[in-house]
Amino acid sequence: MLQPRKPLHSGLPPGPKGTLIGGAAHKFGDGLLDFFLETARTFGPLASARIGPKRFFLASDPALIEQVLVRDAKHYKKHFGLRAFIPALGNGLVSSEGAYWRSQRKLIQPTFIPARVRSYAPVMTAITEDALKKWSDGDGLNINNEFSRLTSQIALKTLFDLVDDGDRQHFTDTLKLAFDIMTERLRRVLKAPLWLPTPENIRLKRAIADLDRTMLGFIAAGRARKEPGDDLLSRLLAAKREDGSHMSDRELRDETMTLYLAGHETTALALTWTWVLLSRHPEVEDKLVAEWARVLRGRTPELEDMPNLPYTHAVLSESMRLYPPVYVIGREATADLELGGYRVKRGYTILMSQWVNHRDPTYFPDPERFHPERWEDNLAKRIPKFAYYPFGGGPRICVGNAFALMEAAIILAAVGQRFRFRIDDNAELGFKPQITLMPVAPIPVTLKAR
Ligand code: HEM
Repeated sequence: MLQPRKPLHSGLPPGPKGTLIGGAAHKFGDGLLDFFLETARTFGPLASARIGPKRFFLASDPALIEQVLVRDAKHYKKHFGLRAFIPALGNGLVSSEGAYWRSQRKLIQPTFIPARVRSYAPVMTAITEDALKKWSDGDGLNINNEFSRLTSQIALKTLFDLVDDGDRQHFTDTLKLAFDIMTERLRRVLKAPLWLPTPENIRLKRAIADLDRTMLGFIAAGRARKEPGDDLLSRLLAAKREDGSHMSDRELRDETMTLYLAGHETTALALTWTWVLLSRHPEVEDKLVAEWARVLRGRTPELEDMPNLPYTHAVLSESMRLYPPVYVIGREATADLELGGYRVKRGYTILMSQWVNHRDPTYFPDPERFHPERWEDNLAKRIPKFAYYPFGGGPRICVGNAFALMEAAIILAAVGQRFRFRIDDNAELGFKPQITLMPVAPIPVTLKAR
């Protein structure tokens, strides 16, 4: 058995008392963010609790997080919560493990090198321009739905060169149905195994079969193209393993579905929460508008503009600090290990929450304050790596982080130069923490032309 370091303590780290059967499972609902924060603040850098029969530790010290995600990474796998989504994700980069994951990451990573990512900037700009043509002063819309539609269009165009909005709508509706069922199942301590033909399982299987058909249709169309396009699928179709083999249709289905799922909602959420924060901080919005006027003069930003928009990037960093689209990462120990002087038994889960770390006053004084200026003078370089980690870290760091940052900056500046959003007075602005930090309800706004 692997035993990198010897634990100092014989028992468990301190932690909240849960119910006898469910442990802290009842906290894994809408109050989850407060539960994480309270647990870390009350019990310190390493706290212990149960979800049903499963033991988990909440690690909130950057050094402990680095140990899990970097130093001991090979002794951990993704946590059991993710498995609830395997029916849709398949065995793509987010969920695969071990040698298979390593070989797939090696194959896919080159399609995300900066030069490749930069080539998607014109698509992002064009699709954003197109969407903006449909908006006018006084229109009412839901920002999270609009940003989700926009990033979904960009994802489908960059992934598959897909432009047909009918196809996109059907695909996204089916996906939503499947995700609602999978999220519901994840929340239940007791659930029927997937092979049992319960009405819910049947609905899920039908939705997944429908998604598979759609994805395999996109892949067949990609293979049938005479000239490979600039889309990611074309690049993945061309990618060769060391032994000269290419990905099968099933592997391509899982990887492209994973990239779509991992990539578009997260970026849409970053934009949504940024606008919610801006609506409460007109002084920040004014500074942004001044930067755009100086650098862009009304143009939709292009790749070359990126280095000249430091305040835009600071606003996005600060927004993802306070409202990180991925607010928790989990890992399951595959061996008996040590963490923070305690024994981590094989099968234990370590949770690490960006929501908690990003609010640590040691690194972010006055942590609840939305203050993009704190990122000046290279704050990111002055704090420990895992004080701020919206894209995770270590070998499994987000493969699409450069893509996401460029996309978010382009959309933010393009939209913000033309419109202001006035959030309707009756909007509910709470969080519904699912796999990502969703809003509790659609966020209605009225557009004001600038
Ligand atoms: C603001 C937007 C985004 C955020 C906040 C985000 C966040 C994250 C985080 C925290 C992880 C690590 C999860 C873990 O360690 O368990 C991750 C992994 C991943 N992300 Fe992102 N992501 C974003 C955008 C994207 C985009 C645009 C793509 C693709 C185009 C993408 C594709 C992936 C993939 C494939 C992985 C799994 C990597 C692996 O395990 O090898 N993400 N993301």
